[in-house]
Amino acid sequence: MSGEFAGLTAIVTGGSSGIGRASAEELRARGARVAVLDLDPSGLADDIAGFAADVSDRASVASAVAAVADTFGGIDVVVNNAGIGATGTVADNTDDEWRRVLDVNVVGMARVVSEALPWLRRSEHASVVNVSSIAALNGLPGRALYSASKGAVLSLTLAMATDHVREGVRVNCVCPGTADTPWVGRLLAQADDPAAERAALRARQPIGRLVTPQEVANAIVYLASPRAGSTTGTVLDVDGGVTRL
Ligand code: NAI
Repeated sequence: MSGEFAGLTAIVTGGSSGIGRASAEELRARGARVAVLDLDPSGLADDIAGFAADVSDRASVASAVAAVADTFGGIDVVVNNAGIGATGTVADNTDDEWRRVLDVNVVGMARVVSEALPWLRRSEHASVVNVSSIAALNGLPGRALYSASKGAVLSLTLAMATDHVREGVRVNCVCPGTADTPWVGRLLAQADDPAAERAALRARQPIGRLVTPQEVANAIVYLASPRAGSTTGTVLDVDGGVTRL
């Protein structure tokens, strides 16, 4: 396939839904061979390879990453997108909830990169893009654990960018605002008045609408691409103006 990712292989974690799915499809459209690592890798387009993997399980990640490298002959791009939510203040979340969310959202990203690094180091266009959140940058009410996990993703991005720049591996992150994905759909479905809650989310956005998964995917794919060859250790907001305006 031709395109800016021709000859390159990309892993997208959590690529069966929402932002990850849009990113996987955009990478494929631009010529990458794409491997989705997801708890449920069903329902993907025919030209995207699915691998069952749980980012909170080292053995599962190791075997999926090895299977991708075996199938495609290398790994050039990792999009660390898999993540789970949590609501509440520090008064609400149990220690087990803290361990679980940090394990998936933060350690999961470190696991995937550590398993992919031997191949990334061999690539001419190695790039990692981590999906953080506006929760890393703003004091969102009732999101203590989730915010801490996404703040850690941002810091991990900066640290990894420094550690691996001389090995030719770029590391960046995106901070999406409220994006219209199945995740947000599930949250709205639990509200007393989902339509009113959706309107409130929209009203919070300076641009007057939710972010689209495609807009986040566009930012991810730009950072992952050889076009961004001198860009590492950056944080790109895709948030409709919530953070800076
Ligand atoms: P989503 O819930 O639609 O999709 C998440 C995907 O991750 C699913 O396919 C799920 O099966 C997979 N996944 C979950 N746990 C996993 C695990 N342990 N191992 C492997 N795969 C796993 O979510 P959405 O909205 O697309 O979010 C994707 C990322 O974007 C997450 O990291 C989230 O924190 C972040 N984000 C989302 C925002 C939003 O408003 N939707 C805003 C800011 C950040």
